Amino acid sequence: MANGRLLITGGSGLLALNWACAMRREWDVVLGTHVHSVRLEGVRAHPLDLEDSGRLARQFEAIAPDLVIHAAGLTSVDQCEENPALARHVNAALARNVAEAAATGSIRLAHISTDHLFAGTRSGYREDDTPEPLNEYARSKLLAEEWVRQALPQALIIRTNFFGWGHAGRQSFSDWILQSLRAGREITMFDDVYFTPLLADALANAAHRLLERAAAGTINLAGDERVSKYDFGIRLARAFDLPAELIRPGKQSDARLVARRPADMSLDSAMARAMLGDELGRLDDFFQALRRQEEAGRREELFHAVTE
Ligand SMILES: NC(=O)c1ccc[n+]([C@@H]2O[C@H](COP(=O)([O-])OP(=O)(O)OC[C@H]3O[C@@H](n4cnc5c(N)ncnc54)[C@H](OP(=O)(O)O)[C@@H]3O)[C@@H](O)[C@H]2O)c1
Repeated sequence: MANGRLLITGGSGLLALNWACAMRREWDVVLGTHVHSVRLEGVRAHPLDLEDSGRLARQFEAIAPDLVIHAAGLTSVDQCEENPALARHVNAALARNVAEAAATGSIRLAHISTDHLFAGTRSGYREDDTPEPLNEYARSKLLAEEWVRQALPQALIIRTNFFGWGHAGRQSFSDWILQSLRAGREITMFDDVYFTPLLADALANAAHRLLERAAAGTINLAGDERVSKYDFGIRLARAFDLPAELIRPGKQSDARLVARRPADMSLDSAMARAMLGDELGRLDDFFQALRRQEEAGRREELFHAVTE
């Protein structure tokens, strides 16, 4: 294929599946899998052991990717809080292994980081703001950035927050909202938590355009609009012609959660916009795209794509 071979770790995850769908016509996509198996049209899946960088370098040599997206991780914030050693291992040590193996093979790497790294006491965090992680997930992801940077300074480290279609065993934030409203269930969404989400496909497209420009280092790739989780839900409901009145506002500050969470995770993507010469995208456009994806069969395809 014109663009070469793209290997995505965490191949059964929410981001990898949508990234693969976004790129499968242009790239020879290989999804690197762990416990779960994946079957997705036009994409190959390959078991990938991230535990040892030397072994991983040999696997990279055999698969021969031109580009690796590292999207594997332990993404449950509460699970990370309950098991910090596991969080550190999966999120940071395995990321370092991936970066070392990519360095050995001179393979371009994009590492997926998070918008969760800051204290959340203000909005629009930039790349040069000082992270202040509030929980173990954030601490492990911050350490991952540091270790990836050390192992492969040319790696692109992407801080983001995305949504897209999940699979039967891993429903996404937008899946949960849509499914609840379609079932006529009331849900509560926080109106005191802010973020700047973007559609997974928009994230993949922007990342590839940055990689084409040989971008390296840390960059924010987030949506152009800062919204509360509640507003996200209301606007998603309206875009899908679902009853928005089923969504009740609630407060994260009143919720009893295992891990502390930032109240404002919004990122400022001005640097990416300047490099791309373009906007990252607005929510209503993302929601229309999500709707078109469902009409084209993406929801159904991904729902059944992953098995134990
Ligand atoms: N979801 C979000 O809104 C969000 C926001 C900001 C940043 N991120 C970041 O984006 C990335 C992708 O997130 P996601 O939501 O797509 O993740 P996800 O759906 O939770 O999937 C995680 C993937 O990682 C794999 N994995 C877990 N432990 C592993 C291990 N020990 N070795 C190899 N693979 C392992 C899982 O495979 P098995 O299930 O087979 O173990 C799965 O494919 C993560 O780095 C996350 O921190 C996510």
